[in-house]
Amino acid sequence: MEYNFDTIIDRKGTNSLKWEPDKLKEFFGEEDMLPLWVADMDFKTPQPIIDTIVERAKHGIYGYSVRLDEYYDSVINWQKKRHNWNIEKDSIVYTPGIVPAINYIIQAFCSTGDKVIIQTPVYYPFKKSIINNGCKVVDNPLTYDGKKYNIDFEDFEEKAKDEEVKIFILCSPHNPVGRVWTKEELEKIGKICIENNVLVVSDEIHNDLILGNNEHIVFANISEEFAHNSIICTAPSKTFNIPGLETSHIIIKNKEIRDKYKHILIKNSISGHNPMSIAALKAAYNEGEDWLEQLLLYLEENLNFMENYLINNMKEVRLIRPQATYLAWLDFRLIEKDNKKLEDLIFHKAKVALDSGNWFGDNGSGFMRVNFACPRAILKEALDRICSAINNRTLQ
Ligand SMILES: Cc1ncc(COP(=O)(O)O)c(C=O)c1O
Repeated sequence: MEYNFDTIIDRKGTNSLKWEPDKLKEFFGEEDMLPLWVADMDFKTPQPIIDTIVERAKHGIYGYSVRLDEYYDSVINWQKKRHNWNIEKDSIVYTPGIVPAINYIIQAFCSTGDKVIIQTPVYYPFKKSIINNGCKVVDNPLTYDGKKYNIDFEDFEEKAKDEEVKIFILCSPHNPVGRVWTKEELEKIGKICIENNVLVVSDEIHNDLILGNNEHIVFANISEEFAHNSIICTAPSKTFNIPGLETSHIIIKNKEIRDKYKHILIKNSISGHNPMSIAALKAAYNEGEDWLEQLLLYLEENLNFMENYLINNMKEVRLIRPQATYLAWLDFRLIEKDNKKLEDLIFHKAKVALDSGNWFGDNGSGFMRVNFACPRAILKEALDRICSAINNRTLQ
């Protein structure tokens, strides 16, 4: 089946966090904005998922539901097919979302006051989860070489040596800077963690959204040693645009670590599952691949479009071209270094809702994150608005 990603679908009135004017007002102080912020897509999910949910809905009874073997097989087969990663059913722990999972992991493996390493600029709920659970953030900031972001290994090692550091949350691929980490980078960081008794939590929620010729490597697939010192967080949510269905898989090979994690889930009575999510997951992993291949091409074209647009109309705004995800990190520092003034320009003058760079860490100031998983016409409209706001400001 051929999908048309150019179709514009009105999402207002669907309780969309990204689009509802009330939410825009709350976050940006404006109701009437073009939103390219929250990380979901403005595309319909693959047809087989829609058909399956409609069919399930028609049944009319939405009782307590369980995951059967065919559910686990869908997860196992997908990981094998897309990532050449062999996992066993027992290692898969359902959790209703990766952010909840990260909170449960911190509760399971840290005591109050313990430390957790993150690499800013990074997906901001990591920091919130650490702080909300009474732990301390240790930052190993990524370095920017003018083209891409890199890991400062020396700094990482020094920080990992601190005995109070219990966990490292790796974002792989990385949101917002779009890096697909190489095997060499992952090996270096993984070894440091083993040497210093630091558990690696690899958030791989974006691992199916790999662009161009880049190759994603599942952290646990590097070696048995790495598999036994890691927790891998995966989900169909970003891949197939079903994050509202709240299904994720926390894959833990090491039984001792897995039992500790499961204990926290039991303490919080996390076991049931939404019947719609069960149906959607099977359809996604068993029948959604064709849609995903078409989506990845469209995303790549959107990225090319944005890159050309910037070169032709806004040379001072630099795109740090992502190797994965549908999130682009834009460097506005040649236009405006002051983050508050930049926010004013983008949110209040251009009226485009983007994720402000400093939400991801202090080193994100002067940057903005753009979600380009939208029809090209919407992307163009957003870029036009930003371009006019910049030009008007220059004229003043
Ligand atoms: C790196 C990363 N982890 C987790 C999430 C959210 O996961 P969930 O909706 O399963 O809690 C996102 C969403 O943007 C993300 O980018």
